[in-house]
Amino acid sequence: MKKLIDNKSIVLGVSGGIAAYKSVELLRLLIKRGANVRVIMTQNAQEFVGPITFEALSGQPVCTSLFEKGGDVSVRHIEWANEADAVVIVPATANIIGKLANGVADDALSTFMLAVTCPVMLCPSMNTHMFENKAVQRNLERLKADGHFVIDPESGELACGATGPGRLPDPEDILDRLLYYLSPKDLKDKRVLVTAGPTREPIDPVRFISNPSSGKMGFAVARAAEQRGGKVILITGPTNLPDPNNVTVIRVGTAREMAHAVFENVEGSDIIIKSAAVSDYRSKDQAEQKIKKEKDEMVLFLEKNQDILEELGRRKKDQILVGFAAETENLEQHAERKLSEKNLDIIAGNLVGQPSSGFGADNNKVTLFYKDGTKESLPEMEKDDVAHILLDRILGVR
Ligand code: PMT
Repeated sequence: MKKLIDNKSIVLGVSGGIAAYKSVELLRLLIKRGANVRVIMTQNAQEFVGPITFEALSGQPVCTSLFEKGGDVSVRHIEWANEADAVVIVPATANIIGKLANGVADDALSTFMLAVTCPVMLCPSMNTHMFENKAVQRNLERLKADGHFVIDPESGELACGATGPGRLPDPEDILDRLLYYLSPKDLKDKRVLVTAGPTREPIDPVRFISNPSSGKMGFAVARAAEQRGGKVILITGPTNLPDPNNVTVIRVGTAREMAHAVFENVEGSDIIIKSAAVSDYRSKDQAEQKIKKEKDEMVLFLEKNQDILEELGRRKKDQILVGFAAETENLEQHAERKLSEKNLDIIAGNLVGQPSSGFGADNNKVTLFYKDGTKESLPEMEKDDVAHILLDRILGVR
C-alpha cells in the first residue's frame, strides 16, 4: 500500500554478506514507493558494496561508523532511531543476529538498533549450516520473541556452493513482506477469491484464442488482500508471474477450467474479485492434429463460454462481488450495464488499448462504479495501489 511507506522514514541496515548487493535493489524499490530511506552499514558490509552506491541512490549520507568526521555524528544513530517508522536489515548475518539477540552494541548498526522503538524486520541470509546452527536458531527465536519480524531465507544453491536454506529472497519479495508486516490486518479472517489473467481456448494442439492479459492486476489484488490478513485463493489463467506469498494459487488454461475451479472453491468466500479476462467464446471443434494451411480461407465456429461472474451473481447470498470491465469505448455505459446484469457490488472499469495502463502494463486507470449508482474515477497509478484502493472500498460496502 503506497501510503504505508510513502513519505515514511525507513532505515535500511546492511550487514556483511554476499547478498548485500540485493539491498541496493531494495533501496531503489523503497525510494520508488516514496520512502525516505537512510542506510546504516556495518564494516563488513562495506567489503561487499561501497557506501557511495547507497548514498547516490538514497540521496542521504550513509552511516558507517559511530565516529565519522564532520557533523554531529555522535548522536546521529539516536536521531535516526527516533525518526524511523520502520527498520529493515538486509541481509542479516549470523553476526548481527547474535549481537541484536544479546543486546551487544559495538558498532553503528548494533548501537542504533538498541535505540529503535519502531517495527523491525530482519532478513537472514548465510550458509545453510550457519543458518541451521543451534546458536543462530536460538538467537532468531529470541528476536522473534522480542517482537521483531523475521522472514525465512529461501532454499536453493548458495554462493558458497552449498544447497539448502540461507538464500536472501528477491528484493520484490522482501518489499512485499515489509508491506505485509506494516499493513493493518483489516481483512483478517476474510476469505477472498480472486481471478486473474487470460484464458486460452484451443483451436488445435498448438494454437489458441486468447487476449493480452498478463495477470498483473489480479495478482496485485491477491497480494494486497494477503498483506491485509485475508485468506486468499487466486485462480489464474496462463501468466509468467510467480505465486504471491502465502496465497493458494490454482493455475488453469481454459474458461471452462476457470469456471470449474471457481465453483469448486467459492464456498465460504466473503469477497470475490474477478479481474480475469475470460474468453467469451471457445472454438466449437478442436482439431486433434495441427491444422495445415491448405485453403486460402477457413471458417472457425465459436460457441459461447459460460459467464462465470453472471452465475456467481445469480447464486450470490451475502458475499461482496466485484467485477472488472475492460472496454475500448463507452466505458461508463458498458460498466454500469455489467454491474447491474451481473448483480455486482462494485465494477472496476478500465479503458484498454493504451500502452501505459490496462492490459500488460504496471499501471492502471480505473473508474469504480458502485451499486448505489455512484462512481469514482481514480487517476492512473500502479496496479498495487489500485488493488489497495479497491479493497478499501470493498470494506466500505454494506
Ligand atoms: O491482466 P492485466 O494485464 O494486468 O490486465 C488487467 C485487465 C485489463 C485484464 C483487468 O483490469 C480487467 O479489466 N479484467 C476484466 C477483463 C474482462 O474480461 O472484462 P469483461 O468486460 O469481458 O468481463 C466483465 C467481467 O465478467 C470480468 O470481471 C470478467 O472476469 C467476468 N467474466 C467475463 C466473461 C466470462 N465468460 N466470465 C466472466 O466471469
